Amino acid sequence: MKIVISSDHAGYKMKQTVAEHLRGRGIEILDIGTDSEESVDYPIYGKACGEALIDGKADLGMVFCGTGIGISIAANKVKGVRCALVTSVEMAQQAKQHNNANILAIGGRTTDPELAIRMTDTWLDAEFEGGRHARRVGLLDEM
Ligand code: RB5
Repeated sequence: MKIVISSDHAGYKMKQTVAEHLRGRGIEILDIGTDSEESVDYPIYGKACGEALIDGKADLGMVFCGTGIGISIAANKVKGVRCALVTSVEMAQQAKQHNNANILAIGGRTTDPELAIRMTDTWLDAEFEGGRHARRVGLLDEM
């Protein structure tokens, strides 16, 4: 399992926290930046994460900005990306079960790090339910 991760400056610390946790789970990380809390533009990093995923450089992706909103919008501009911004464990679970989200977005300034870890693990461990959800995800991917 390999996960590509990116953030802007406001999501940098959370990216580092989650990356350390993922490495502890034995997951390989492709970190495409940013590399500090110096101000950068989240659209660049969200799009780059989506493109890396769709190019096959990783199995899943995670993105982080201040709220998770801007960088998730950017990631979702890449065809084939289903990026879900989550703020609860239940949302993280359904992001996989119902939406088969291939990128998870978390707000670095709005989320407790412990919750971020629990949402990450829940998303990774949940399984896509298929069935009617597969039809809907298929419709998304046609857009
Ligand atoms: C940066 O100040 C902030 O706007 C950005 O991290 C993000 O929250 C945008 O959605």
